[in-house]
Amino acid sequence: MSELTRKAGELDAADPLGGLRDRFVLDDVVYLDGNSLGALPANVPAAVDDVVRRQWGALRIRSWEESGWWTAPERIGDRIAPLVGAAAGQIVVGDSTSVNVFKALVAAVRMAGEGRDEILVDATTFPTDGYIAESAARLTGRTLRAVTPAEVPGALGERTAAVLLNHVDYRTGRLHDLPGLTAAVHEAGAYAVWDLCHSAGALPVGLDEHGVDLAVGCTYKYLNGGPGSPAYLYVRRDLQSRFDSPLPGWTSHAEPFGMRTAYEPASGAPRGRVGTPDILSMLALEAALEVWDGVSIEAVRAKSLALTDFFEECVRAFAPPGRVESVTPAAHSERGSQVALRCDDAGDVMKRLIERGVVGDFRAPDVLRFGFTPLYVGFADVERAARVLGEVLP
Ligand SMILES: Cc1ncc(COP(=O)(O)O)c(C=O)c1O
Repeated sequence: MSELTRKAGELDAADPLGGLRDRFVLDDVVYLDGNSLGALPANVPAAVDDVVRRQWGALRIRSWEESGWWTAPERIGDRIAPLVGAAAGQIVVGDSTSVNVFKALVAAVRMAGEGRDEILVDATTFPTDGYIAESAARLTGRTLRAVTPAEVPGALGERTAAVLLNHVDYRTGRLHDLPGLTAAVHEAGAYAVWDLCHSAGALPVGLDEHGVDLAVGCTYKYLNGGPGSPAYLYVRRDLQSRFDSPLPGWTSHAEPFGMRTAYEPASGAPRGRVGTPDILSMLALEAALEVWDGVSIEAVRAKSLALTDFFEECVRAFAPPGRVESVTPAAHSERGSQVALRCDDAGDVMKRLIERGVVGDFRAPDVLRFGFTPLYVGFADVERAARVLGEVLP
C-alpha cells in the first residue's frame, strides 16, 4: 500500500461527514463534477414520485393549497437561507440564475438612483452574468465596465450604481473577498450583487453578516437540486421595500388573485417572484435539501479544504513533473471547492479520465476542472482520481 493510499484511508476514517455518502445514490465512479451537477440524493426519487402521483395525479388543483405548492418558493428559500448565512424571509426560489441576475442587477441600479450611471461587472465572470449585465446597462441607460474583482476597489466611485461579482470563479476556483469587496462597494454608496453559484453549499457565505445587498445562485451544483432545478434570489430585508423588480409578474403581486390591472408589489421575499413556480423541479429541490439536516456548513468547508489540499498533494506525487499546472490559489482564503489544472490537451485528457471512471469536466481552452462536494466525495476518491490522472497523462 502506498503512503498516499494509507493517508487517504486515515483521513476517511477520521472524517465526521463520511456517513453522509449514504444519503446519495453513488456508484464506483469518482464523481468530481458536483460543481456542475450534484449527485442524486437517495430520498429524491420517492419524493418526486409522491409529487407526481399523489399531489398532481390525485389532488390536482387542490395541491396549490393542500400540498403547499403556492408557498414553495419562500418556504424553500428559507431552507436555503441558513446555508448562505441569511435569516428567514429574504430568499425566494424560482427561475434560472440568469433571470435572477437580471432582476437583482436592474433592481440594484434602480435603488442607486439616477445620479449613478455606471455598472461594474466581474471581467472574469461566468458568461451569462456578463451578457445579462450588458443588456441591463442598455435597458437602464447606464454604461457597463468590466473589471477584475481585484480592480473593483480602484474602479468604484460616485458614478457607480451597482457591482456584479462572482463569489468563486467558475474556471479557476478562486474565492473572492466577499466581505471586503462588499464593504468597498458600500463605501462608494453603491450596491453589491453576488453570484453564489460556486460557493453556496460548499463554504460559508455570510450574506447577512457581511451586509450583502442582493445575491443569486443556482441549486443544481453543491445543493444537489437536480438538472435545471430553480435558482434563488436574496434581497436583504431592509432593501425589500425598495426592490423594484424589472419582471413584476402576477405571482409577486400583493394580491395575486385580485386580478388587478395595476401592479402593486407584495412585501418581503415574494416580491422577487415572477410567474407560476416550476413545482416538479422545486419540490425535487426541497427533498434534496434534506441531506443538509444536521450538517454544518463550517464542517463542509473544513472537509472541502482538506480534500482540495490532498488532491493537490496527490497530483504532485502522480502527475509527471510540469505536465499540469494548478491555476487554483494555494491559500485557503482564496480557494473555493474545486481544483483547476491547466493542461495542453485538457479535452482529450478529460475524455480518458472519464473512460477510467473519474468524472470531472473540461473548460475551454485548456482547463481540467475537478469539483469536490464534501457531502459525498471521500479521500480515497481523491487519491484514485489523481492516480488515474497520472496514468492517463501521455
Ligand atoms: C457563476 C455562474 N452563474 C450562472 C450560471 C448559470 O446560470 P443559469 O442557472 O441561468 O443557467 C452558472 C452555471 O454554471 C455559473 O457557474
